Amino acid sequence: MAKDPGRVVIFDTTLRDGEQSPGASLNLEEKLAIAQQLARLGVDVIEAGFPFASQGDFAAVNRIAELVGGEDGPTICGLARASRDDIKACAEAVAPAPKKRIHTFIATSDIHLEHKLRKSREEVLKIVPEMVGYAKSLVDDVEFSCEDAARSDPSFLYEVIELAIASGAGTINIPDTVGYTTPSEFGELIAGIDENVSNIDEAILSVHGHNDLGLAVANFLEAVKNGARQLECTVNGIGERAGNASLEELVMALHVRRRYFNPFLGRDEASPTPLTAVRTEEITKTSRLVSNLTGMVVQPNKAIVGANAFAHESGIHQDGVLKNRLTYEIVDARTVGLSDNRISLGKLSGRSAVRARLEELGYDLNREDLNEAFARFKDLADRKRDITDRDLEAIVSEQVQQPEACFQLRLVQVSCGSALRPTATITLVNQDGHEETAVAVGTGPVDAVCRALDELAGQPNELIEFSVKSVTEGIDAMGEVTIRLRHQGKLYSGHSADTDVVVAAAQAYVNALNRLVAENGTKSLHPQRDIVPQEDSRPII
Ligand code: KIV
Ligand code: ZN
Repeated sequence: MAKDPGRVVIFDTTLRDGEQSPGASLNLEEKLAIAQQLARLGVDVIEAGFPFASQGDFAAVNRIAELVGGEDGPTICGLARASRDDIKACAEAVAPAPKKRIHTFIATSDIHLEHKLRKSREEVLKIVPEMVGYAKSLVDDVEFSCEDAARSDPSFLYEVIELAIASGAGTINIPDTVGYTTPSEFGELIAGIDENVSNIDEAILSVHGHNDLGLAVANFLEAVKNGARQLECTVNGIGERAGNASLEELVMALHVRRRYFNPFLGRDEASPTPLTAVRTEEITKTSRLVSNLTGMVVQPNKAIVGANAFAHESGIHQDGVLKNRLTYEIVDARTVGLSDNRISLGKLSGRSAVRARLEELGYDLNREDLNEAFARFKDLADRKRDITDRDLEAIVSEQVQQPEACFQLRLVQVSCGSALRPTATITLVNQDGHEETAVAVGTGPVDAVCRALDELAGQPNELIEFSVKSVTEGIDAMGEVTIRLRHQGKLYSGHSADTDVVVAAAQAYVNALNRLVAENGTKSLHPQRDIVPQEDSRPII
C-alpha cells in the first residue's frame, strides 16, 4: 500500500499548469496575490511555477517561497524537467521556503519517447535515478512524475516508479497528460501501481490530469478510491487545452460525499473529520481572484463557482427550496463562502472601515495600496449607493494587475446613439509622464475606444475576446469587463470594473496592452514542449 497521509493532500498547480494556458500569464504581483490566497484557502502544496523557464518565472517562485511558504503554511514546489540545470534552478528558487519541494518529471509513454524525447526506455531508466537522486541531494522533499502515464505501458511504469522511489522520491505522480483515460481505467492503473511496485509503501501516490474528455474530476475520485492520496488540480480548472482537474469540484465532492469516500481511506463511514485541509469558505473568493487576474472567465453553469451554481431559477425549484432547501440543494452556498453580497459600506464610510472590511475579506494591503483602494472606493461611492464585498474585491483585484504600468488611462469620452457615429476621445499617459490624445470612430462605442487606444499605444493586435458581466445586481452595479488580445500569436488579457462599462472596457484594454508591452520579447520555456538539450541529461559526477 502506498504511504497514507491519513487524508487527501491538495496540490495546487494554478500558478504552473494553470498559468501555462494561453493568455493566462500573470505578473509577479498577481502570482503573489494568488499564492497568498491559496495559502488562506489551505492547500497543502503550491506549485508556484517552472523556475528554469525564464528569469521572471524564477523570481516569482523565489518570492512566493520567501513570502508565502511558512512552517504552518503550504509547501512551495517548483517544476523541473529531468535535467541538472532545471533541477538546480528549481532548488535555488524554492530555497527560502521552510517546506520546499522539487517536482521533476520525464515522459514514459512510447509515443512521447519516440516522437518527443527520441529516447529509448533504457535511457529513461538511466535518467530517472540520476535526476531524482540529484534533486534529493538538494532538497528533502522530491516528487517524480511519469508524464503521459495514462498512455504508458504499466509494466514499464512500475519499473520507472520503483527506481524513482529508490532514489528518494517521496511522492509519485501519475499524470493523464492528454485527458484520455476513463474513471475505471484510471482506478485500475492506480491499483496496479499500488500492487506491483515493491517499494510503493515509501511514497504517496498522486494524480494529475487534464479535462479533454471532461473526465478529470471523475478520474481523480476513482483514483482516491484506489489509493491516490494527493490530487493535483487548479482553481476554476484552468490549464492547457480543456484545463486541469478543478480544485473546487474535487474538494466539494470529497466534502459533500464524505460518508461515501470515508471507507476508502480506512475511516468509519460516519467519521466527521474532513477529507482535505481546504477551508471551503474561501473557495468563491479564490475563484474570483483567479478569474479576474488570469482573464479566464468562469462559465455561468460551472459546478461550485459558476454564477448559476446556486441560483434557483425555476419556479418549482424555488418553491421546493423555500419549503426545505434539501429538496434541490446539496451544498449550502455559505459553505463555499458565497455570502448574500451583504451590504458593507457606503459613501460615509471612512478609511478604517474600508481597511477593516478588506482585512476581513483577506486583503492585507500596505499603506500605499490602501490609499489607492480607498480613493477608488470613494470614487465608486459617489456613483453607487451601497458598496458590497464583491465591489471591494473588484477594486482590489484590479490594483495588483499593473504595478508598473506603461500606460495610464487619463480620459475616456464617447459619443454614440442612434443618429451618431460612435466616436471616442482617449488620453493616455506613458511612463515618462507624456500625455497624448487620440480620437477614433468605430462600429460602436467600445470599438471606437479600442481604435483610439491602438492608435496611441502603437501595438498592433487582434481583439479575441470581450466579455461584460455585472458584479452585483441593481441598476447602479459595476460592470466587469474582460478582454483578450492576440499579438504575434500570443494572448494577453486585461480586466477591469466600473459603473460605466465603456470606461471599464477602456481600462481593461489598457491593462491588456500594458501586459503586452511588459512581456513583449521575453522568452519563457514551456516545460513539456521544450525538451531538454541532449547533453544536459548526462550523469552527474
Ligand atoms: O500534464 C502533465 O503531464 C504535467 C506534468 C508536467 C506533471 O503537467
Ligand atoms: Zn499537466
